[in-house]
Amino acid sequence: MPILGLSPSQKPVYPAHFDVEKVIRPNILALQPYRCARDDYSEGILLDANENSLGHSIEGQVEGVQDALELNLHRYPDPSHPLIKQRIATLRGLRPESSSSDATSDAETGADHVFLGVGSDEVIDLLMRVSVTPGGSEKILITPPTYGMYSVCAQVNDVGVVRVPLELRGDNGEGGEKGRFSVRVDEIKKAVVADPSIKLIFLCSPGNPTGTLIPLSTIRSLLEFPDFRGIVVVDEAYIDFVDDPLTQSAASLVKQYANVCVLQTLSKSFGLAAIRLGIALAQPPLIQILTNTKAPYNISTPTAALALSALSPASLSTMQAKCQTMKSYRSQLLASFAELGKANLGIGRSIGGNDANFVMIPILDSKTGEPSSARANKVYKALAEEHGVVVRYRGNEPGCAGCLRVTVGTEEENKAVLEKLVEVLRIIS
Ligand SMILES: Cc1ncc(COP(=O)(O)O)c(C=O)c1O
Repeated sequence: MPILGLSPSQKPVYPAHFDVEKVIRPNILALQPYRCARDDYSEGILLDANENSLGHSIEGQVEGVQDALELNLHRYPDPSHPLIKQRIATLRGLRPESSSSDATSDAETGADHVFLGVGSDEVIDLLMRVSVTPGGSEKILITPPTYGMYSVCAQVNDVGVVRVPLELRGDNGEGGEKGRFSVRVDEIKKAVVADPSIKLIFLCSPGNPTGTLIPLSTIRSLLEFPDFRGIVVVDEAYIDFVDDPLTQSAASLVKQYANVCVLQTLSKSFGLAAIRLGIALAQPPLIQILTNTKAPYNISTPTAALALSALSPASLSTMQAKCQTMKSYRSQLLASFAELGKANLGIGRSIGGNDANFVMIPILDSKTGEPSSARANKVYKALAEEHGVVVRYRGNEPGCAGCLRVTVGTEEENKAVLEKLVEVLRIIS
C-alpha cells in the first residue's frame, strides 16, 4: 500500500533488509489523515475554519513577547511550516547538494526529511504510536541508564520494554576510558534476534544521564544488522554540546539509511524549552507517516515564529557561540569538581562522557569511599531545601550509584553550586 502523501520518486532503499511498511502498524498505513482547513487554501477571505473573525482579544502588550499581537493569532497555524524545516535541513546537512538557492519544494530543500513535534517528547510518543502495536505483544528496546520518557511513553501506549543496560567501560577490564558508558551492541543484537517483536531501538546520544556521545560506527552496526527490521531512534537532544556536531550527529546517516530516525530539539542548545519544538530527521517515507498521524496544527504560530527567528543565520551564530561558552564552563566545572575530589569531602571522579550540558558527580560514603546513593540523596535534598540549589538525584539509575546530575549553569550559578556543595558535604556524612 503506498504511503499517503508520499511522492513516488523514491531512491532505492538502503539497507535492503528494511521495509518501512513492515514496521508501521497497518491501521496507520491505512490512515486517511485529517485534512486541515488550510491544506487546500490559505489565503483570501478565510471563512473555512470557524475561527474568530474579529481577531484575538488580548489587550496591551503580551509580557515579554514583542509583536505577538501581529501573529494572526485568530488563525490556525500553518500545518506544515516548510520554512522552519528548510532551515533545519540546511543546518543538519540534509539539503540536497544539487539544491539551488531558489529551490522551494520540500524535496528540493530537504524539508521532506524533517518533522516537527511539540518537543521531542511528542515525537517519541508518535514514533511508538505509528510502529508498535499496543497490548504488550510488541516492544521497544532501551539502554538504561537513559532518558525516562521512553519507558513512560511505552507504558502509556501499553508497549513492552526490553532493557539492555549500557556498560560502564573500564569496570570490566575491557579497556577504554574509565567511566564512559557504552552501548552493548552484541547484547542488543542478541536481544532483537531473541525477540523479533522489538520494533524500535532507542539510543540517546549524548546520553541523558550519561552525557556520552555514541560513536557513529555503533549506530551503523545496528542499522546494518539484517536481523533487526525496525527503526533505530537516536535521540540527540544534546548534540550541539559536542565538538563538531555536523560530523558526529547521526543526521549524517539519514540520507543513506532508511531505518534511522534522529530526534533533536530546540529545548537545549537553542535555549527554547518553553516553546516546545522537537524535531525528527529521517527519510521521507517515515517523515510522511509521522506527518499523516500528527494532530493537524501541532506547532503553534508563536512557537513557529520564535523557531524561525532562532534558525536565522544570526541566531544560529549566537546559539553556536553560547554552546562554546557552555563547553568552556563545563570544563571549568569538571576541573573544580576534580579539585574538590582531592579535598576529602567525598566527591568522586565524574562519570560519563561529559559531552552534554551537564555533568554526573558521584557522592561518596565518607567511611568506605564508595559511591553512596543514601548520602547523595541527603545532599540533593539539603542543597534544594536549605540552599536553594536544585540538581538532579540520579543514584537510582543503573551504573549511577551516588550520582548527582548537575546542569552547567552560568559562571555565578556554577560558583554557587560548588560553594553550597562544600557546605553541605561538611555537614552530611
Ligand atoms: C534525551 C532527551 N530527549 C528528549 C528530551 C525532551 O526534549 P523536548 O523538550 O524537546 O521534549 C529531553 C529533556 O530533558 C532529553 O533529555
